[in-house]
Amino acid sequence: LFTAIELAPRDPILGITEAYNADTNPKKVNLGVGVYYDDNGKVPLLECVQRAEALLIATVTPRTYLPIDGLATYDKAVQELVFGAESKVIAEKRVITAQAIGGTGALKLGADFLKRFAPDAQVWISDPSWENHRALFESAGFVVNNYPYYDAATHGVDFESMLASFKTMPAGSIVLLHACCHNPTGADLNADQWSKIIEVVTSRGLVPFLDMAYQGFGEGIETDGQVVRRFAAAGGPLFVSNSFSKSFSLYGERVGALSIVATDSAEAARVLSQLKRIIRTNYSNPPTHGGKVVATVLSNPELRALWETELAAMRVRIRANRELLVDLLKQKAPSHDFAFVKQQCGMFSYSGLSKEQVDQLRNNNAIYAVDTGRICVAALNSSNINYVVDAICQVL
Ligand code: LMR
Repeated sequence: LFTAIELAPRDPILGITEAYNADTNPKKVNLGVGVYYDDNGKVPLLECVQRAEALLIATVTPRTYLPIDGLATYDKAVQELVFGAESKVIAEKRVITAQAIGGTGALKLGADFLKRFAPDAQVWISDPSWENHRALFESAGFVVNNYPYYDAATHGVDFESMLASFKTMPAGSIVLLHACCHNPTGADLNADQWSKIIEVVTSRGLVPFLDMAYQGFGEGIETDGQVVRRFAAAGGPLFVSNSFSKSFSLYGERVGALSIVATDSAEAARVLSQLKRIIRTNYSNPPTHGGKVVATVLSNPELRALWETELAAMRVRIRANRELLVDLLKQKAPSHDFAFVKQQCGMFSYSGLSKEQVDQLRNNNAIYAVDTGRICVAALNSSNINYVVDAICQVL
């Protein structure tokens, strides 16, 4: 059985962490994976999470199975966070939400659901997109195409080409969009551009799938959620995957959700019933702990306010890292212009470094970045930023 099996390549993102972990260089820096580290280089355990966990421990409960679609209080809290507490689609019971195993799990549920009910549709992802988007939808059985997105010359979005591509996609095509903080480029659409995309998606009968893994890391929780709300207001169908890995610093708990907006409540109930079959045949039902922590924080006004403060602090620190990175590069490599890094938002910067330069950083300095030149700005800190900048200057 196994003799003909070839060795699979390392994962383009998580494989970097494997290589980083195996590196014995004490100066090593992991700018690969999208994880927020504090200024001491540690993944924070948020105060709101610790306090929620203390509350949960004080009221110990048996570990029975959760419902197939997850904890009801969690699903409700997620809906209100993602769609807004006053959302019409919630009031009209047109949106269903299922707890999922992280954002990746939510994408996989959505992909499997779509493959069952739209087997002949093709999927379109941005060029470039998060590496796992293509892999996920291909493994669900879809043909995955790219639509134009990033313009290396401007370090922004090539919006005209993107829009033109949307205008030629066959009706029923599934279009994967990043709701905020585009991964890997950090380049987002502005509000006018979103209006045009929503218009073409609606008028051509495309199926939007919004991936929102970084709500709160762009402008703030409400502003970052606007794109989802605008798509929801335009009517269904709409798929939204979201994740709390980054915003709650709960990476290993795998807490995410898939929401689907339907045309009316009866349709939504049928959609949920089918989604539950997909969950049941994948992993039966989700784990309890992460969902309980998030539900506790989101439904307790004091903890919720604390979470917003802690999330804002992460967002502000990432911005400060961008500023400092650009300033230091300007001082040390004045002939290169990295000012665009300040315009990008979220955890990442598409730095413009080539694969060769990324290789050199890794081999010479034990600085790990994604082959595409994506760096995680949230992994810079006052102890490593000068080391990183000096190394970048050497490879430029
Ligand atoms: C990333 O893009 O680095 C993160 O979303 C982590 C992952 O699962 O790839």
